[in-house]
Amino acid sequence: MKIFITGGAGYIGSHTCIELLSEGYDVVVYDDLSNSSLKAIERIEKITDKSVDFIEGNVRDENKLSHALEGSDAVIHFAGFKAVGESVEKPLDYYGNNVQGTLCLLNAMRKNDIKKIVFSSSATVYGDPDFLPLTEGHPLRTTNPYGRTKLIIEDILRDLYVSDDSWSISILRYFNPVGAHKSGTIGEDPQGIPNNLMPFITQVAIKKRKYLSIFGNDYDTHDGTGVRDYIHVVDLAKGHVRAIQILNKPRCEAINLGTGNGYSVLDMVNAFSKASGRQINYKIMPRRPGDIAKCYADATKAKQVLDWKATKGIDEMCRDSWNWQSKNPNGYN
Ligand code: WQD
Repeated sequence: MKIFITGGAGYIGSHTCIELLSEGYDVVVYDDLSNSSLKAIERIEKITDKSVDFIEGNVRDENKLSHALEGSDAVIHFAGFKAVGESVEKPLDYYGNNVQGTLCLLNAMRKNDIKKIVFSSSATVYGDPDFLPLTEGHPLRTTNPYGRTKLIIEDILRDLYVSDDSWSISILRYFNPVGAHKSGTIGEDPQGIPNNLMPFITQVAIKKRKYLSIFGNDYDTHDGTGVRDYIHVVDLAKGHVRAIQILNKPRCEAINLGTGNGYSVLDMVNAFSKASGRQINYKIMPRRPGDIAKCYADATKAKQVLDWKATKGIDEMCRDSWNWQSKNPNGYN
């Protein structure tokens, strides 16, 4: 079975390629390399000793997509911009790349009679939770253009399924991916100043950044800092393999991919120091606009529908993030 992976050279995409190849799938990676490196593809091949078909292309090039999709059986759609703050500054870029790109992909799939897709969504579609842990039935609403693109795409997929129930669609809502493959040869490689917590911590650890700004310690949490459901990227990748496997019959399901455990910023700083032996200097700063206090998953449906659950704890997440960063202080460059 051949899986077409948009954004497959990226952080979650590259880890998913490894799990798919290890399970005997063939993969085609379609990536414009705007936020990823061809080096990741080389390292995937080295880790798995298998070859990856790579096609450089943008998801808005429908004609190129149509040709590239020939011969594939299913699609995993990772390609998309994902920085919340940037989406507020550049909403048209986000709607163009994320929403228009997805429409081009779906039209190209239809031309090739491919109707199996796994979509990379996000817990950001829940907004500020009414209740915790978050179930898939929680109200959907978002507070920024990035989150709105994810919700719009989910609605497109649900409308598509209503119009043609021969489609098989898995919508995966990620919580907070961290960590790296145990080899330390692929990992998270953000461009410029990291938006997310873990890559910022690892850059402080290698002294690329002087200190971590902790955005607020006055939240209603056990230690006042923000609580999130951090999930190891390898657990997340394995969840995608299961999400492909359930596409053997028509369906349209949204599924949380989280651990069900919430950890605070300070919990992560302490766990990382323990795992790396590095002191992480930090300063308490004002809250970041748009941040919520707490967010963590009810992972019941993933167990029921995918027969999947996360197995790696924050110590392993921190150890693997450190292993990647310490071996690759400049990422893939
Ligand atoms: C986590 C916690 C911050 C950085 C976002 C998107 C989500 C997904 C993951 C794409 C919060 C705190 C962070 C820092 C800090 N993105 N923090 N100092 O905001 O939960 O989720 O990224 O798929 O869709 O919404 O993740 O890592 O930015 O923040 O104190 O330098 O760490 O306040 O409490 P977030 P994050």
